[in-house]
Amino acid sequence: MRKIVVFISGRGSNLSSLTEACERGTCLAEIVAVISDKPNVLGLEIANQKNIPALVVNRKLYQNSDEFDKALEERLDVYKPDWIVLAGFMRVLGKHFVKKYRGKLVNIHPSLLPSFSGLDTHRRALLAGVKWHGATVHFVSEGLDEGPIIAQIAVPVYLYDTVESLGMRVLQAEHKLLPGVMSFCVQGKIYLGTDSVIYDYSIMNNAMAWS
Ligand code: GRF
Repeated sequence: MRKIVVFISGRGSNLSSLTEACERGTCLAEIVAVISDKPNVLGLEIANQKNIPALVVNRKLYQNSDEFDKALEERLDVYKPDWIVLAGFMRVLGKHFVKKYRGKLVNIHPSLLPSFSGLDTHRRALLAGVKWHGATVHFVSEGLDEGPIIAQIAVPVYLYDTVESLGMRVLQAEHKLLPGVMSFCVQGKIYLGTDSVIYDYSIMNNAMAWS
């Protein structure tokens, strides 16, 4: 069974959807730990309820991001993860960290990258007037939200949408996308090649664009 460690900073709804897929057996993996950079967040409670080890590496207790990354590494390596999923983890990981775990580090971002990298994606999508918005799962590279794209899910933007209504539609879509992608990753059907994503021939008929 493949081992996944999930990094969070807050609510943990993507953690929940991934955990449920692992429990159902649609994603053949075990979530062996959840690590949060903030104490007292809802995602830690979700992990506790599911009996998943829940750790806090509090960013505020470290002088700089190198020391924080080193502390994360130490905790992480105990679990020997095959995959590390950033699910609402609101920190940029340093060069060394990203290089060390290259090909194992996956992030979910609430926009159709490369549009709207960074924060406040739903507001920016509405302001830009785009008619389709969504979420992306990608391998993590050094640049912010820039790594090779694995899969995307698109949702329509309606004229009456608010940041909240659009955000909710995207989040529900994320809950389909992340477990779907990870179920292929843990089976070795999706992996990172030298500079692009490699898909196993057996999933060539699966569109990597969901809606
Ligand atoms: C999600 O929209 C995710 O794409 C983004 O942060 C949000 C986290 O939500 N990176 P949750 O903590 O999984 O509920």
